[in-house]
Amino acid sequence: MLAALLLAILGLAVSSVMAVKQHDFKLCHQSGFCSRQRAVAELVEKFPTLGPNYKFIESSLKLGKAGVEFKIVEQSHIGGSVQPGGDELLVTLDILKAAGTVRVRADPVVAKDQKPRYKSDEFVLTSVPEKSNLKVASANDKDVHYEWTHDSAKYAFVVEKSPFTIRFYVNGDEAISMNDHDLFFYENQIVKEEPAPAPPADQNAAAEDKKVDERSDDEKEFDRLKEAVRKDQWAEQFGSHHDSKPHGPTSIGLDISFPGSKHVYGIPEHATSFALKPTRGEISGEPYRLYNFDVFEYELNSPMALYGSIPFMLSHKKGQTVGVFWQNPSEMWIDVEHKSADSTTSHWMVESGSFDIFVFLGPHAAAVLDSYTSLTGRAAMPQSFAIAYHQCRWNYLDEADVQGVDGNFEKHDIPYDVLWLDIEHTDGKRYFTWDNAKFPNPANMQSDLAVKGRKMVTIIDPHIKKDDNYHVSSEAKSAGIFVKNKDGSDYEGWCWPGSSNWIDYTNAAARSFWSKKFLYNQYEGSTPTLYTWNDMNEPSVFNGPEITMPKDLVHHDNVEHRDVHNIYGMLQHRSTYEGHLLRSIDNDRPFILSRAFFAGSQRYGAIWTGDNFARWDHLEASVPMLLSIGIAGQSFSGADVGGFFGDPEPELMVRWFQTAAFQPFYRGHAHIDTKRREPWIYGEPFTGHIRSAIRTRYQLLPYIYTLFRESTVSGTPVMRPLWYAFPDDEATFAVDDEFMLGSAFLIKPVVQKDTAETEVLLPAGSNWYDYETLVKVDPSASGKLNVKTPLDKLPVFLRGGSIVPRRDRIRRSSALTIKDPYTLVIALDEKGEALGEFYNDDGRSFDYKKGDYVYAQLEFRDNTLRCTSPVAKYTDVSAKISKPKFTGHDSRVERLIIVGVHSKPKRVVSSSGANLEFTFAREGGVVVVKEPQGVFGKEWHVAFEF
Ligand code: GLC
Repeated sequence: MLAALLLAILGLAVSSVMAVKQHDFKLCHQSGFCSRQRAVAELVEKFPTLGPNYKFIESSLKLGKAGVEFKIVEQSHIGGSVQPGGDELLVTLDILKAAGTVRVRADPVVAKDQKPRYKSDEFVLTSVPEKSNLKVASANDKDVHYEWTHDSAKYAFVVEKSPFTIRFYVNGDEAISMNDHDLFFYENQIVKEEPAPAPPADQNAAAEDKKVDERSDDEKEFDRLKEAVRKDQWAEQFGSHHDSKPHGPTSIGLDISFPGSKHVYGIPEHATSFALKPTRGEISGEPYRLYNFDVFEYELNSPMALYGSIPFMLSHKKGQTVGVFWQNPSEMWIDVEHKSADSTTSHWMVESGSFDIFVFLGPHAAAVLDSYTSLTGRAAMPQSFAIAYHQCRWNYLDEADVQGVDGNFEKHDIPYDVLWLDIEHTDGKRYFTWDNAKFPNPANMQSDLAVKGRKMVTIIDPHIKKDDNYHVSSEAKSAGIFVKNKDGSDYEGWCWPGSSNWIDYTNAAARSFWSKKFLYNQYEGSTPTLYTWNDMNEPSVFNGPEITMPKDLVHHDNVEHRDVHNIYGMLQHRSTYEGHLLRSIDNDRPFILSRAFFAGSQRYGAIWTGDNFARWDHLEASVPMLLSIGIAGQSFSGADVGGFFGDPEPELMVRWFQTAAFQPFYRGHAHIDTKRREPWIYGEPFTGHIRSAIRTRYQLLPYIYTLFRESTVSGTPVMRPLWYAFPDDEATFAVDDEFMLGSAFLIKPVVQKDTAETEVLLPAGSNWYDYETLVKVDPSASGKLNVKTPLDKLPVFLRGGSIVPRRDRIRRSSALTIKDPYTLVIALDEKGEALGEFYNDDGRSFDYKKGDYVYAQLEFRDNTLRCTSPVAKYTDVSAKISKPKFTGHDSRVERLIIVGVHSKPKRVVSSSGANLEFTFAREGGVVVVKEPQGVFGKEWHVAFEF
C-alpha cells in the first residue's frame, strides 16, 4: 500500500506499482561495503598464500584478572590500510559475570579521522556489563589461554597468535571461533587519496592494453579483487540516491564459525526458514541483510532485510547451544556457509560503528538467553489484556463503526480485549489528534469499551506532518529536535501525511518531548485505557533511498544516520513507553506495539511482522519468523492474523486464528482495500471455528501469562522451537513447521488448503496427549504421527509431565474473568509425574515488582498433587508480600483434570482429609476432580489412592 499511496500522492499511475519491490532494495553487489567485504573473502579464498591479514604484536600483551588485551596490526596486503606499516587495533576480551559470556572488542589505536566510532551501549545495554574474576590465565609464544567455570560448565578461550584466531571452548569442546578463515578486515577511516590525474586519452588506452597483455589470469583476478576491496569507499549511488559518505569507508568484516554445528538461527528479521540456509558455498546467494526497512509486499524465502534487526545468532548442536551478539546498529550483511559437512561459518559485514561482540557459551539455550537478556534487558511484563485477542483494521471508520464491531463480538459471543484505530482516525495524519467529524467523542468511546474491560489502541507514527499550525510540528521544529540534513537544516521527506519531518529519538530532549505528548492534557481525548501502536519507524520514508532515510543525515551529537539506523525504531518505542509511564505516574504497564525493532526492544513491549499477505504460504512463514524473533530475546511478537494484504478465504482465516491462538501476540488486522473480515463475517461453520480458536486462547491465558512472567526474568521465549525442549534430538533441529508454546504444548499448524491429514513429529523422550481429546497418542518409532485435520481440528499436543493452569469460564473480555476460579490440567509422564507453575498479579500495575503477586509451584508425584509457594522464584523481588494486595481476584482452583491415569482411583483426598468428588473416564485415563479445596498462594495437596 505504501508504494501505491506514494504514487497516488505523486500522481503516478497505479499500474506501475507492481514494478516496486525487489529493485527498491540493494543487493550485496550494489552496496559498497558488502561488495568490499565479500571481495576480501574471495581474495583470501583464492590467494591463500597471501598469509594472515593481521599480526599479533607480542609486546602489547597484558594478561588481566578479568580478561586480556593486546594489539594486532594489519598487514595491508589485501588493500585495506593506506598507512605504511598498517593499522593497529587494540583487542580486548573481557569475561563477564553473565554466565559463560565474553565481550570481544577491537578499536583502532589511532583513529585516522576526527569522527569517533559510534557506540550504542547507552541505548542497547541496560548497564555497564560487570566483569568476572574467576579465571586461570596463561600465555606462551603461541597462544594466550583463559579458563573459568560457572555452575557446572567449564569455559575457556584461546587467542592464537599466528595466524591470529580466537577460539572459545565449552567443557573442552570448541564451540565458536573468530577469524579462523582470516576474513577479519577493519576499515580504519582511511585518509582520502586524491585520484592521480588521468593521462591523455590515447596514452591511457595504450597503457591499459599493455597492462592487460602482460598480466596472467591469476594476476588479473588478484588486481580485480584488490580493486573491488576499494569499491565505493567515498561515495555511492543507488538509483537516483546519492550517499555522500563524508567519513569514507568504515566497515568491519569478520568470520565467526561454529565447529561441529550444522545449524544456526536468529538474526531476525527475515522471511525465511528458522534454521538459516547457507548463502555461500554449495549455493551462491545473497547474504542475510539487517537494515530496518518498510518492504512493500515482502517476499518469502528471502534473506532481504525487513522491519527489524537483531544481530544475535545462535548455534545449536547436540549437548550445546551458543550465541554471538554484535552490538552495532549500523547496516549488516551476513553470509552463512557450511565450510565442512558438520560445521557452519558466518561472515559478518558491518557498515560502520564498533567491533563489539558478546559471545555466549551456554551451554544450554536457556543459559544463552538468560545471559543475552541480562545484558540487553528483560522483556517487559505485559498487562493481562495485552496477551488476549486484539481486533484491528485499517480502518474502523468512526464511532458508530467502533460501536458496531464491539457489539458484534458480544452478539456472536466471541471474546476480545482491544479495539484498534489506524491512521485514518487522526486529523489528516497528525498524530495525537482525532478526526473530529468521525470521532467527536473519543473519551466516551474509550469509556464505553472500558466498562466491558476493553481497551483501545491508536497509531502514533514518527513522521510529523510539516505544518506550522500543528502543535507537534511547530514545537518540535522550534526545539530543534528533528533529524537534520548535513547542512543542519531539518530533513524533509514523504510519508502518510505528505511532507514530513522526523523526530530524532537519539536526542534525550526529543525523547522527553515525545514522552510528554502522551500526557492526558497534551493528548486530548486520550484516557487511561488508550494504548499505542508505533508504525513506520524503520523509519519509512516513501521518497528516500530504499524507502528510508539517507545515511548521511545527521542526528544529535553529529552522529550519522548510518550509525544509528537500526535503533531508530527502538528509540521511538522506548520514548512512547516512557510517555505511558509518565502519564500513569509509573503505575500502569505500558502496552506499545512497534514494527521496527532491535536488540533490547523486548524491554518496551510487542512487535509484529508487518505487512504480510492473506496467503497460505504467509501463514506458514509466520512460524519460522516468530521463532527467530523469539529466540533472539523478543518474546512478545505476532503476525497479522488473516494476512494484511488481500482477502483470505474462510478456510485460511480459520487456520490462521487457530495457529495464532498459540502465538505470543494475537491480533487480526487488514489493509484498507480489503473486504471486512471480522470473525462473524464468514458465517457457519467458519465463525464457529474462529470462535472456538479465540476461546481456546482465553482458556489458556493463565498459562500464557505465567510464561510471559518467566520470560521477564530469564529471557526464555514464550513460543519456542522444538529443540529448546528436546536439545539432544537431532530430528528437531531444523523443524519449523511445528512449534511449542512454553514447554507443555506442541502445535502443528495446518498451512495448506484442504488438508485432510497431516504428519506430526512428536519428539521421543516424552509421551504426548492429543489436547482436544486428552487421549494419549502413539507415534511411530521415529516420532511420526498422522493426524486427521478436519477444519475444526488443529493438531495440538500436550506433553506428558506438564501441568497447565486454565480458566474455563469464557467471558466477554479477559478483565471480566478475574474473579473466576481455575482448572488445572495435569498430563502425566511415563512415571506418572508432572510439573507446572502458576503466576498471577493485578494484571496491570508494577506492584508485582514489590512482591504483590501469587506464585505457585505444582507437582504431581507419588499419586499426589502438591501446590507450594516458594518465595525466591523471581529475582527482581526483594520482599514477597505474603498476602497479595490485589483485590477482586480469585485464586481458587475449581477443578483438576488428570490425564494418563492407569486406573480408577479408589479415593481422592484433600489436604484436610476430605473425600473429593471425582469422575474417571477409561479412555485416556482421565480423572476429573471437583472442588479440590486448593487456592494458589497457599500450600495444599490432593492425594489419589488406588
Ligand atoms: C503500514 C502498517 C500497517 C498499517 C498501515 C497504515 O503498512 O504495517 O499495519 O495498517 O501502515 O497505517
